[in-house]
Amino acid sequence: MTCLNNEQIKKLEKQASNDEYRLNYHLMPPTGWLNDPNGLCQFEGIYHLYYQYAPDDCFGGDKYWGHYSTKDFITFKNEPVALFPDCSLDAGGAYSGSTIIKDNKMYVYYTGNVKYPGKHDYIHTGRDHNTIMVISDDGINFGEKVCLMKNDDYPDDLTLHVRDPQIIKNGDHYYMILGARTNQDVGCCLLYRSDDLVNYKLVNRIISNEPFGYMWECPNLVKFDEQMILFCCPQGVETAGYDYENLYQNGYYLINGDLEKDYRLSEFIEFDHGFDYYAPQLFIDEQGRTIIIGWMGMPDVPYTNPTTKYNWQHAFTLPRELTFKNNKVYQLPISETKSLRKAKEIINLSNHEKISCKGNIYELYLPINNRDFTLTLRNDAVIDYHSNLLTFSMGASGYGRDSRHIVIDDLSNMTIYSDTSSLEIFFNDGEYALTTRIYDHSSNLEISIDTEIQCTYYELNSYQIV
Ligand code: FRU
Repeated sequence: MTCLNNEQIKKLEKQASNDEYRLNYHLMPPTGWLNDPNGLCQFEGIYHLYYQYAPDDCFGGDKYWGHYSTKDFITFKNEPVALFPDCSLDAGGAYSGSTIIKDNKMYVYYTGNVKYPGKHDYIHTGRDHNTIMVISDDGINFGEKVCLMKNDDYPDDLTLHVRDPQIIKNGDHYYMILGARTNQDVGCCLLYRSDDLVNYKLVNRIISNEPFGYMWECPNLVKFDEQMILFCCPQGVETAGYDYENLYQNGYYLINGDLEKDYRLSEFIEFDHGFDYYAPQLFIDEQGRTIIIGWMGMPDVPYTNPTTKYNWQHAFTLPRELTFKNNKVYQLPISETKSLRKAKEIINLSNHEKISCKGNIYELYLPINNRDFTLTLRNDAVIDYHSNLLTFSMGASGYGRDSRHIVIDDLSNMTIYSDTSSLEIFFNDGEYALTTRIYDHSSNLEISIDTEIQCTYYELNSYQIV
């Protein structure tokens, strides 16, 4: 149970900064490994963005809660580590969780992971999975770790994979949702109710009509007007045609009916179709916006990231604002992202002519108006749209990432956010999204298309990290 202190972490931070693939306007671990966004909230005007962090191991390891804070999503403060895996409740990792604000205090919930030495599968034996609460007055200093639930407190038919608490207020009650895997290898969620944020009673299980994967990770409940929605990350879902092409899924169910009694789940709707999107977390900010940030990465995949040569791996996606229309969740980068823009430029692309004169850190809007096209960017990535099928593919710059597809009946527009080693592409004003890492060596736009199109281009400034 030895972990690095904040001083030792500071020493490690220098190594990563020399990598050409460090991102300009995405949050990365200062050193080492980052996965899920955790505890996202706005508390007394300041946004707190915590994350699963392993400062001493760019391939994972015992997880801490790293921490950035910001007032404007342009300048960020690299804060001291918020939670260490430093006690018998969480010695194998302070796993994912969330926060809720009540009476000027931040209530933080997470899973304390403990792994026992010896021969175990860590699914049925060898693990503690404690639901832990800590309270903070400022988001920086945290009180005593209080264990709210331990192995014996969860239903008997579940494995030792119960984790990732998230809390919402709905009506007069608070609800905690936990991701779970049953002994029959069926993914589901547990729903607990509380009136005081400390005592929780199990009131229901959220499960699909037909089994959908063996484990649901990182559940998030969110409500748009009267529509309750469950975001989650099912593992163990087979690819079906162009659906579920990733190893693990990210997406959501619409929930109708009474959450505590007879609810009905819609079909699972995929959220981001790219290679690198997982474990997103949602929160509502003080303006009432529903904001989601994803882990721009994916566990257990064969494709890789050359950034590990510089002892760091993975990043956050851009923060995106969600809206609910036509029974679907739409997503676009939050409006603050516009403050990164330099001057507006109009670029005319025509018939295979390659445009290379601009930088590759940009936002590019293309009015497609339902035309078929093939577009190449950064020399190696191809976006192809024919017969209502969008295909995104990469060569060597994908480091094992090959192709992904989205069926889009009418494609009216596309916006590409390109950073040094990432692409986030939004279709139809955020109806669909595709996020990926990309590792090419071009520092120019390098774009061409087989049609004529007038695009809007903004070179983008960098985040400031202080
Ligand atoms: C999802 C996840 C969570 C867990 C965390 C551990 O990526 O596996 O279920 O809490 O990562 O880092």
